[in-house]
Amino acid sequence: MDAAAHSAKSRRSGRWQLSRGTGMDRRAVCLGELETMGVFRAPWVRDAIDAVDRTMFAPRRLWSLETDDQGLHRLLDRKESPAAWLEAVWNAHQSVIVQMDDGRTRPDGAARGDFTSSLSALDIVCEKLVQLDVRPGQRVLEIGAASGYHTALLAHRAGDSRVTGVEVDPELAAWGQENLKRAGCAARLECGDGLEGWAAEAPYDRIVSTASVRKVPAAWRRQSADGAVVLTPFNTLYCRGGLLRLTVKDRVATGRFSGTADYMWARGQRPPDGIRPPGTYRCRPSAIDPGQVLDRGWAQDFALGLHVPDVHVTHRVQDGARQTQLWDAAGTSVTVIRHHHWWHKDAVTVWGKRDLWHELTTAYTAWRTAGQPHPTRYGLTIDDHGQHLWLDTPPGQLHNPGPSLEQPSGRQEHRKEESGPR
Ligand SMILES: C[S@@+](CC[C@H](N)C(=O)[O-])C[C@H]1O[C@@H](n2cnc3c(N)ncnc32)[C@H](O)[C@@H]1O
Repeated sequence: MDAAAHSAKSRRSGRWQLSRGTGMDRRAVCLGELETMGVFRAPWVRDAIDAVDRTMFAPRRLWSLETDDQGLHRLLDRKESPAAWLEAVWNAHQSVIVQMDDGRTRPDGAARGDFTSSLSALDIVCEKLVQLDVRPGQRVLEIGAASGYHTALLAHRAGDSRVTGVEVDPELAAWGQENLKRAGCAARLECGDGLEGWAAEAPYDRIVSTASVRKVPAAWRRQSADGAVVLTPFNTLYCRGGLLRLTVKDRVATGRFSGTADYMWARGQRPPDGIRPPGTYRCRPSAIDPGQVLDRGWAQDFALGLHVPDVHVTHRVQDGARQTQLWDAAGTSVTVIRHHHWWHKDAVTVWGKRDLWHELTTAYTAWRTAGQPHPTRYGLTIDDHGQHLWLDTPPGQLHNPGPSLEQPSGRQEHRKEESGPR
């Protein structure tokens, strides 16, 4: 269905008038903001946003990103507090939460939990649509369809029959299908694991994910037509929030990080839980002030994370002293760095085979030596041999210091039976 038909149908049903009558101001403010941000530089994106009524895809009850004084996310009910509900739905920069804890926390009141589905914020929705550069008639696969709103925007541009959305959660998938039907959009919305793509409608000219991956699924590459664009939020365990734009040619996908996009993890690629380090550890001094390496802003953190993608990081202050803990995806190597007196021989404590502070500082040196490149100078290539990160020019492989199995020379090893890392 094209833009005109879509709008006409919505007007006939009366639903568009309803949303205008109650929310015109918020909508107008939001679109004005988006315009000012330049996210309508592809005019078709503005047309799609105009034609598809976002309020039809927002649940009656949703959680705002804002929290109350107990740190709980406020539940907004469209009937009980329509103004606040509309303000949240038309907030250009904030998503609204439609599911927590994979549905175990029900929308019965203010809550705290893991966000597992949302209606994405319009600024990033529009930015991604621009980068995706959908053309009429192209076949499009969307991963993480949920409400179906983004699916409908894609369908507005590509054509209903050309778009397939995949949503892993059955309850959300059924809700999204219903929303699309009510909105008069005939795009497919299937329930399944989007990390497997959707083979039945392949090959695709465009694949867009609205959930973050740390490994680009092989299925996306296999199901891409030659010349296809794959756009996905990309996290490492070290740092979230990259947006990766790949082009597929001769079954090889390659491209750079094209911006930022903080999306929830795709199910199947969530970080593993728990750490199980051995009881023994060794200590050593740090070679550098940890404050130079850690928590220095997104661009540095993301770039370093590309070098050490499977290293988690967390910071804490204990008895007034700052500590950082690193651990690997297997949870069997843990390194704790004390910031105060970092040159002392017990500043770094290492459990397990990998000295993760050695890996991270080696990455830091490589990044500094390369001139502190911004994440957009990094890229990724996926071929039959796996996923390779590079700097500036594909297909060279990024230097990854890898596991450090050896104790740095001259450092003392200690054994300890009691308390391991947290
Ligand atoms: C941030 S929401 C995006 C919703 C919608 N596309 C939007 O942009 O407003 C991400 C969605 O991805 C879904 N999801 C997560 N992992 C998935 C997977 N492996 N396959 C399909 N959907 C997945 C979640 O259930 C969630 O509904």
